Amino acid sequence: MLNKLCMYLERPELYKESKVNFWDDEYISKQLLKAHLDVDFEGASRSLDFINDSVDWIVKVASPDKYPNLIDLGCGPGLYAERFAQKGYKVTGIDFSKRSINYAQSRNEEKNLNVTYLFQSYLNMNYSEEFDIATLIYCDYGALSTKSRRLLMENIYKSLKPGGKLILDVFTVNKYNDFKEVKTWEINEKGGF
Ligand SMILES: C[S@@+](CC[C@H](N)C(=O)[O-])C[C@H]1O[C@@H](n2cnc3c(N)ncnc32)[C@H](O)[C@@H]1O
Repeated sequence: MLNKLCMYLERPELYKESKVNFWDDEYISKQLLKAHLDVDFEGASRSLDFINDSVDWIVKVASPDKYPNLIDLGCGPGLYAERFAQKGYKVTGIDFSKRSINYAQSRNEEKNLNVTYLFQSYLNMNYSEEFDIATLIYCDYGALSTKSRRLLMENIYKSLKPGGKLILDVFTVNKYNDFKEVKTWEINEKGGF
């Protein structure tokens, strides 16, 4: 037991990739969806007001009449994708969590939207000049290894039509100016994310 605990205290190699699909894990994906749907909790997606403001801003900088085909990478349960569709974009959403894609699909039917949702990794997508805009929202880029970042950028570049836009939502270094690294342990008796 103590050995196992000590193992968890070891610092992993930077950006070491897990052998399991974290996002599609039964427990994680359940907690993730719950976090996504909590409108005030910013652990998985931004707050609802921020999402609505962001969608309005995107419509302003890349309107659906000039940039009709949009792909939302790591769309989760479709919080942005369905708003993009309501604004008039033709939307494709890709995510690697089956649970989130199923949820997004059910909202599609409920709200009579026409978003194409795909359960797929954006690292394996293979489009050629199909989209006018690609979005990657809530700082996923920073969690990827250098190799995966390059692969994703190549996939996105290929998927966009000439003159297309990538809207990349990342944290800047300023967020970490006062960041102090700490180690903490806590017990979550009722589960947690
Ligand atoms: C922090 S959440 C953000 C979700 C959404 N963009 C939002 O802001 O509401 C990250 C999402 O990216 C998805 N994801 C992570 N790696 C992925 C990959 N390789 N391919 C597709 N989706 C991925 C996860 O399943 C998760 O839904």
